[in-house]
Amino acid sequence: MTDTLAEARLLPTPDETWWRQAAVYQIYPRSFADSNGDGVGDLSGITDRVPYLVELGIDAVWLSPFYPSALADGGYDVDDYRNVDPRLGTLADFDVMTQALHAAGIRLIVDIVPNHTSDRHEWFREALASPKGSAARERYIFRDGAGPDGAEPPADWESTFGGPAWEPVGDGQWYFHFFAKEQPDLNWNNPEVRADFRRTLRFWSDRGVDGFRIDVAHGLAKDLGRTLPTQAELDALPKDGSHPLWDRDDVHEIYAEWRAVFNEYAPARTAVAEAWVASDRRARYASADGLGQAFNFDLLEADFDAGQFRDIIAFNLGLAAESGSSTTWVFSNHDVVRHATRYGLPPRNGAAAKQGSQWLLRGGPASELDAELGLRRARAATLLELALPGSAYLYQGEELGLQEVAHIPAAERQDPAFFRNPGVDMGRDGCRVPLPWTRTGPSYGFGAGGSHLPQPAWFTGYSVEAEAGVAGSTLSLYRTALALRSRLQAAESMEWLETGRADVLAFRRPNGWTSVTNFGTEAFTLPAGEVLVSSTGLEAGSLPGAATAWLQA
Ligand code: NOJ
Repeated sequence: MTDTLAEARLLPTPDETWWRQAAVYQIYPRSFADSNGDGVGDLSGITDRVPYLVELGIDAVWLSPFYPSALADGGYDVDDYRNVDPRLGTLADFDVMTQALHAAGIRLIVDIVPNHTSDRHEWFREALASPKGSAARERYIFRDGAGPDGAEPPADWESTFGGPAWEPVGDGQWYFHFFAKEQPDLNWNNPEVRADFRRTLRFWSDRGVDGFRIDVAHGLAKDLGRTLPTQAELDALPKDGSHPLWDRDDVHEIYAEWRAVFNEYAPARTAVAEAWVASDRRARYASADGLGQAFNFDLLEADFDAGQFRDIIAFNLGLAAESGSSTTWVFSNHDVVRHATRYGLPPRNGAAAKQGSQWLLRGGPASELDAELGLRRARAATLLELALPGSAYLYQGEELGLQEVAHIPAAERQDPAFFRNPGVDMGRDGCRVPLPWTRTGPSYGFGAGGSHLPQPAWFTGYSVEAEAGVAGSTLSLYRTALALRSRLQAAESMEWLETGRADVLAFRRPNGWTSVTNFGTEAFTLPAGEVLVSSTGLEAGSLPGAATAWLQA
């Protein structure tokens, strides 16, 4: 056998449908593994840890932005879409990482940030150096200020991170930014912008990338060719496809163009939309003529509650069937309080995701957090998730059962959401702290040096070293469950089983693979079958509260 053939055999099979039920592991690269001891994670660090990813048993990696960036928003402020941040490595390091992942049978999804560039992008520098009405300014959203000398913003709009959404440039004009002022929004009505992003998609596809995660996919298309409404008027407008800023129907014209690019490759490149839209509008993004799949954040926003889970699962499987896509499930990512913490907080004012932020705002008092209960519930929820039809998106560190890091001194915080909203938003740094790999060491094995966000002392007990090979650890649970999942994964369907209890959910996949979750506190007698794995110890054949078990019926 020639070397080329040997390599070809190691690459993932050219299966057009690999993404439909993939377990995708999100890597936030600056916080995963640091190979050169500078305190910042890098691409070689990921390459070094491919054996860990193999043992974990995931199908694909989703890599958050690794592009050159001033980190005004954790890398979602991109200076150059077709390059690697020198602190993270080089394009050659990227190729080595991609080959290592592929050789291990793991696919790679990269993050594309098309709504805005950074203010250091060459286009934006050119726009600032060019006069009003120039072609360079036409790539962004510039407007004249209000008032006789343009000293007032064109509208009173607020940015998503707090503070004004319009920034003056000193000549009477202002530019629009949904997010931080270092993230000017692009003008997607401009054909040059569209062409450049198609070039970026081909650039990474040519390098072997298997798919893309599309940041703020519901924000690109905007209709500002009208008298600008006030923020109050904007808030009152329906989000039915005609809103001037969000989830416009015409955004799908862009994704139809992208689909043509994805389909130039074999297998076709995939994409998943980050689109915070009403559930009944999600299918548009997941259409096979567009991006193909969309994140479903419904479980992430739900309480640990059987009724909510059942309704959300049934509704989303129905949506997936309608769109022809598969559904996605998410509990944690780099934008939200980790689910092991959310589930340990007392219910307060509705949605679980919000409870976490409120707790952080109160300084993360330990007296309000039942970390043990939170982790127990998180493990039960994840085991349920991994048995569902569709893709599961996992976030680095959840396989260790990490809690949110609540106490980070203000001087060491990085998230613009914290700085732009004093006292209102504690930001997202607490879920972005570098991973603990070993029990000891200057950064718990993250690297030979320090850590760009401070790691707490309790990380030692959650390190890979502390958990690997330990029966009952969260890492062992994830490894066992992911291995079983790839063996058991079957047709994308399930049927609910009658449990006789409102707080116990059970469902069966077509091959008899059965998952039972007890959301309550009273033990539940498991149905007949071989127990394959459980999120916590079983008590004489019954499932205790806040636990999930898989059975082969
Ligand atoms: C969504 C990303 O997940 C988030 O981290 C980022 O701040 C915003 N989009 C803006 O790019």
